[in-house]
Amino acid sequence: MDHFLYKNGILHAEDVPLPEIAAAVGTPFYVYSTATLTRHFRLFDEALEGMPHLVCYAMKAASNQAILKTLAELGAGMDVVSGGEYARAVAAGVPGDRIVFSGVGKTREEMRAALTGGIRQFNVESEPEMRALSEVAVSLGVKAPITIRVNPDVDAETHAKIATGKSENKFGIPISRARAVYAEAAALPGIDVVGIDVHIGSQLTKLAPYRNAFLKVAELTDALRADGHDIRRLDLGGGLGIPYTRDNEAPPLPIEYGNLIKEILGDKGCEIEIEPGRLVVGNAGLLVSEVIYVKEGEDRRFLILDAAMNDLIRPAMYDAHHDIEPVVEPAPGTERIAYDIVGPVCESGDTFAKGRHMTPLSDGDLVAFRSAGAYGAVMSSEYNSRPLIPEVLVKGDQFAVIRERPSFDEMIKRDTIPQWL
Ligand code: LLP
Repeated sequence: MDHFLYKNGILHAEDVPLPEIAAAVGTPFYVYSTATLTRHFRLFDEALEGMPHLVCYAMKAASNQAILKTLAELGAGMDVVSGGEYARAVAAGVPGDRIVFSGVGKTREEMRAALTGGIRQFNVESEPEMRALSEVAVSLGVKAPITIRVNPDVDAETHAKIATGKSENKFGIPISRARAVYAEAAALPGIDVVGIDVHIGSQLTKLAPYRNAFLKVAELTDALRADGHDIRRLDLGGGLGIPYTRDNEAPPLPIEYGNLIKEILGDKGCEIEIEPGRLVVGNAGLLVSEVIYVKEGEDRRFLILDAAMNDLIRPAMYDAHHDIEPVVEPAPGTERIAYDIVGPVCESGDTFAKGRHMTPLSDGDLVAFRSAGAYGAVMSSEYNSRPLIPEVLVKGDQFAVIRERPSFDEMIKRDTIPQWL
């Protein structure tokens, strides 16, 4: 459920008509709903009720300060994967003891920054990383709390580019080697082992892969405890999928996911951490764009928008589907025609949808891409020197620009010409 509905024939974000935002900020732009963000965060929090837990929002999905602050005020922790994300989380007011640091290639500099600024735990992904972290911690006179991310070798049944839990993926330590790695961790002077971490992929639409992974984590928890480790936290990653189309088979609900966690890991006496990103923000955001031209090709009709692959790369990168809807609600029964929906970038890959059946549209009409809140704005670029597009946050009948569109001057000023040129 989200808060983007037609009211009086116009698509709204909560109580704000989208054309009003378009008139104020220009198109294209991203718009987020506070009510949807809040609702989706709470679904996870409630799904784990009854177990000690922390929902650490995977901020790679959308990391605008206003989004982070909205979630932080609801009690969210953050899952960060870079020094930049760590700095953003801290700037949004998230206390260090609610920040977990994931990622396969943390640098010593990033480790130092997090150990100095405060961190709940590092999710360590390799022995060399663990040794480096121990050295950095010792040099600062502290111990680094860690979990070790294990790779359970399960098939997440998702797009190959976002599956992470198979042995062929670069992530984590093979679960078969986990006991040896934990033994080394326990012996390192700068390391404090606090738990286990697992994350098997993104946009999972079934619970079975989770079941397989959690069963392996349960077994490993017992084995590591028998080896003398104090396993007190289980970080179970993120990845729960969202519906990208209305007619899609519905992915499992957070409550079902929570019940599975309780069923398999509820009796371990551990604090549970999860790292959802997409489900929190995906359907809390739209990309709104204007039709520039409708062009008749030889045997197809192109809808040329002012948004492009640099603004939303998911269709080009993952063949992802996003529902695209006219902002003015079509009259019931209006016949649909097929469009290839494209952007202005000079690449054939700049195609959002092929043969998409839409009610007729013309120049100046607004359209909205649904489910664009996650991995939308954060993956955008200025390719073709197209400025990063604004982000807008809505709450009830209010809206605010939470990231401005840079001017061409600002973009150009980021470059410098060497003195000798
Ligand atoms: N935790 C870790 C360690 C992760 O690597 C990820 C996502 C998450 C949590 C959050 O997963 P989520 O709940 O959002 O599925 N750009 C791709 C998705 C990449 C996901 C990367 N890791 C896309 O647009 O589909």
